[in-house]
Amino acid sequence: MKIIKAKDYADMSRKAADLIAAQILIKPDCVLGLATGSTPIGAYEELVRRNAAGELDFSQVTSINLDEYRGLSPENDQSYRYFMNDHLFNHVNIDKKNTFVPNGLEPDAQKACSDYDEIIRTRGPIDLQLLGLGHNGHIGFNEPADCFSKGTNCVNLTHSTIDANKRFFASEAEVPTQAYTMGCAGIMSARKILLIVSGLSKAEIVREVICGPVTPAVPASLLQLHPDVTLIADAEALSVFEA
Ligand code: GLP
Repeated sequence: MKIIKAKDYADMSRKAADLIAAQILIKPDCVLGLATGSTPIGAYEELVRRNAAGELDFSQVTSINLDEYRGLSPENDQSYRYFMNDHLFNHVNIDKKNTFVPNGLEPDAQKACSDYDEIIRTRGPIDLQLLGLGHNGHIGFNEPADCFSKGTNCVNLTHSTIDANKRFFASEAEVPTQAYTMGCAGIMSARKILLIVSGLSKAEIVREVICGPVTPAVPASLLQLHPDVTLIADAEALSVFEA
């Protein structure tokens, strides 16, 4: 794993945007695996700026997002489809037909997951997968478990994830309790992975992800086995490594 230390959130976002932009420049019709959460927002803002400045062309890019809340429609402003439209797709020249997010409105979980695996199979492989990190080590919505998940799966969100994500909803009761997420093996099949982490509250879990054992109790620890992972983390997130 290559580790790049950024000064702060803005620096992390710029460095992440540099890598994503480089991927698009070297392969204009690349497949990007994209993530939601507060961490990638700054990188998306930077990509929007570069697209508006004419430095970056999304016209041939395909995107495949990691996850979606089960039960939320694309129009719900807390859905991950809405998030992606709002933070990136509405502001760049990507063809929305080439942007994919699991279908949160599909009630049949098995169908929602197999449909998404089919999209990943036919539109993939993912050239560059962007990941954030949950406080409990989750990637996508793959929560700590007894074994690593393989394909897209329907997960019951842990209390800590619901707690962490309730800030985006009017009340905790509105946070969905389930989500569809690309599986750990699916994430690992990306050619390159870019993990971005910011803030003191992630410092301890970053240490476990990098230095701890590879265990499904910390899903992101699996990234230790991927041949091409870059971690861009700000100084606070890497603070446990300070002398
Ligand atoms: C959510 C998403 C993850 C994201 C994580 C961290 O639960 N499903 O993809 O990485 O939260 O979010 P944040 O970046 O807001 O800390």
